Amino acid sequence: MERIFGRPIITQDEMQKRVRELGNQITLDYADKNLLMVGVLKGAFAFYADLVRAIRLLLRVDFIVVTTRATQKRSVAGKIKILSDMAEDVTGQDVLLVEDIVDSGMTVSFLKKKLLARKPKSLKVCTLLDKPERRKVRVSIDYVGFTLPNKYVVGYGLDYQNRYRNLPYIAVMDKVSEAEELFYWQE
Ligand code: IMP
Ligand code: MG
Repeated sequence: MERIFGRPIITQDEMQKRVRELGNQITLDYADKNLLMVGVLKGAFAFYADLVRAIRLLLRVDFIVVTTRATQKRSVAGKIKILSDMAEDVTGQDVLLVEDIVDSGMTVSFLKKKLLARKPKSLKVCTLLDKPERRKVRVSIDYVGFTLPNKYVVGYGLDYQNRYRNLPYIAVMDKVSEAEELFYWQE
């Protein structure tokens, strides 16, 4: 039986190292600021949890839940919606939005616009993954974990039909046998 699964592209070790680097950089950049971190759910939950623990500041955490696409198809601007809004007030805060992946750029662009309207003192974006080849709208990203080619990836929070989010590394979607799948889980 053929199953859809993924071959590792970013290992747990590489991930840990990069998250530590990002955490150090953010610690320096926000040393004298009022950092409010906003995780974009669901996709960013794993990265976000690791990233906040790599930052040595008295930061505050919050979340925003946006709609995700049902398929791998490009997101449609009109279809992005906030399912559950943040609890904290953004006004006057140094906000850092944390995303899992920037693909077309639609989601980040939509969220930036929404948050900027609430008058933060500053607004920056950190994404674990960036797929610049697929960009449809121009959007500036301040911190990028890894830049990827145009491939659909899962794991470490990223999903295919809400599955594979618990995979502890990033994998490229592929068709593999059951035996291979087991092997990859054990990587
Ligand atoms: P964008 O609006 O096209 O930039 O897409 C952003 C959202 O699409 C991300 O937050 C993900 O939820 C999803 N997405 C884009 N590419 C991938 C991928 O390769 N794997 C899993 N989810 C993806
Ligand atoms: Mg998603």
